[in-house]
Amino acid sequence: MEPVLRPARPEDKAAIAAFTQDTFPWGDYVTERFDAWLAGPDALALVAEVDGAPVGLAHGALLSPTEAWLRGLRVHPDHRRHRLGAALLEHLIDWAAGREARVVRLSTEEWNEPALRLFESLGFRPAGSWLAAERALASGPPQPRGNGGRRVPASERLTPAPPPDADLAMVAWAGTSLELAAHGLFAADWAWRRLTLADLEAAARRRALWQAPSGWAVGEMDENTFQLSWLCTYPEDARLMLRALADLALRAEADRLEMEVPNVDWLHDALETAGFELHPLRVYARAL
Ligand SMILES: CC(C)(COP(=O)(O)OP(=O)(O)OC[C@H]1O[C@@H](n2cnc3c(N)ncnc32)[C@H](O)[C@@H]1OP(=O)(O)O)[C@@H](O)C(=O)NCCC(=O)NCCS
Repeated sequence: MEPVLRPARPEDKAAIAAFTQDTFPWGDYVTERFDAWLAGPDALALVAEVDGAPVGLAHGALLSPTEAWLRGLRVHPDHRRHRLGAALLEHLIDWAAGREARVVRLSTEEWNEPALRLFESLGFRPAGSWLAAERALASGPPQPRGNGGRRVPASERLTPAPPPDADLAMVAWAGTSLELAAHGLFAADWAWRRLTLADLEAAARRRALWQAPSGWAVGEMDENTFQLSWLCTYPEDARLMLRALADLALRAEADRLEMEVPNVDWLHDALETAGFELHPLRVYARAL
């Protein structure tokens, strides 16, 4: 029987939960987000149904008037390689085009060969290699590898930047190797879109835009985690910046520090040295 694509409904949740609980070694997050996806404005949660049962899911949302983000693509293991994944994405691409979006983006971890092949087969092009970086802080401040675990005190303190300084942050970022590697994008809640001055101004108004001589960052508490969504620093300053960030997170009483940053060699090395766990991922884009 031909698959049917239709908007997801609240009653699909149980069937989706049943085929997604072991999607990845760590499980899956789609059922946690499912209700929010159904309610979201400028968004479409799409289900693929075979013989009356939901066997596929994907979610699309407009992140700005011209940028769409797709996520949560899942196909039941028994129904893979029947082009359901491709059909779900194509439908969401058409939906985004119908909403006047000019670009559709998505991401996956670098090891996810099926997803990478699928995205490439649909004409998505690489739009940046990224690192999801995380480290626990509960055991105390940074313990750089190779120094016997002794703390290296931070010599810089990040302070909140006022909104009028947002344009200084934007200028500092322009043309840096991080901006180029990022393709001008930043990650807000695991969804990548173009960074604008308005984003930095809004962050400053929330007292989430931070500055120090070694760079700039947007970061704030999310439950017990200090979550960075944007970082601007330089090869010679990266270690100092990471130390200052860990201190900032500790001052905010965070247990963890997390960030999504462009995967450039010098930042990769600095993060590794500072004891971060690193997960490489790729962002893909398709122009509409
Ligand atoms: C990734 C996923 C959604 C693909 O769904 P699917 O319905 O099996 O994919 P399709 O049948 O539409 O595949 C379309 C094309 O993608 C590529 N592809 C898909 N799965 C592949 C695999 N396992 N190995 C290599 N290429 C693959 C092929 O080019 C395929 O075309 P072909 O079958 O004609 O060769 C599915 O494997 C899945 O649910 N994985 C777990 C969740 C996940 O990783 N989601 C994406 C990251 S967020």
